[in-house]
Amino acid sequence: MRMSQAKTTVKQPKMKMVTIYVMGKKYEVPEGLTILKALEYVGYRLIRGVGCRAGFCGACATVYRFKDDYKLYTGLACQTTVKDGMYLVMIPFVPAKKPVYDIEKLKPDASTVISIFPELTRCVACNTCTKSCPQEIQVMDAVQEILRGNLEKAAHMVFDCIACGICSMRCPAEIVHYHVFQLVRRLYGKYIAKKSKHLEDKLKALEEGAFKEELDKLVTAGPSVWKRLYESREIEK
Ligand code: FES
Repeated sequence: MRMSQAKTTVKQPKMKMVTIYVMGKKYEVPEGLTILKALEYVGYRLIRGVGCRAGFCGACATVYRFKDDYKLYTGLACQTTVKDGMYLVMIPFVPAKKPVYDIEKLKPDASTVISIFPELTRCVACNTCTKSCPQEIQVMDAVQEILRGNLEKAAHMVFDCIACGICSMRCPAEIVHYHVFQLVRRLYGKYIAKKSKHLEDKLKALEEGAFKEELDKLVTAGPSVWKRLYESREIEK
């Protein structure tokens, strides 16, 4: 007699879906996806407005809304998970005037920063910038430190800025915080921070061509070698 084999069926847990709207079109997507992954899930191929996918490069700044909710929410699309009823649209990047200056000719003080970014003095201390920062930087307090001339403190406060531009998008004074913070970090690095002998020695060696041969070899090695080297690199624990 042949024994009939019992069929075992493994029940897959049902995926919970949420409803989102992209440019007005309704989609059902799995709960827990980031906005980036949800857009890809529904078929968008993302070429622009996406970079590291890990919250570091600031390329994916996004705004969204919910039905009947006046508020405009902001976040990084690679870090923000979709929520039921989320409305997403494409927005243009944050326009930001990029000043040109010669760091060698600048003084590390408040008047230098204000002369390049006069809009800083229009800060109304509304704190919208701080509330919108995905990096949880105390943006408004940093601006106030700059205005008080405490560039060292400000430079440390804004070290984690990824230049996503969300704070600038919300600022009524039209301050372009990420360019301001970059200047402050540069001034701090050049004029205020303690010099590192180790770094200076390395730079000198670099200028004298100590690594030229090795670098040239690497530049001409080609994609397969770069890939192998990248994959076998030492990763800090
Ligand atoms: S893709 Fe780089 S921060 Fe989101």
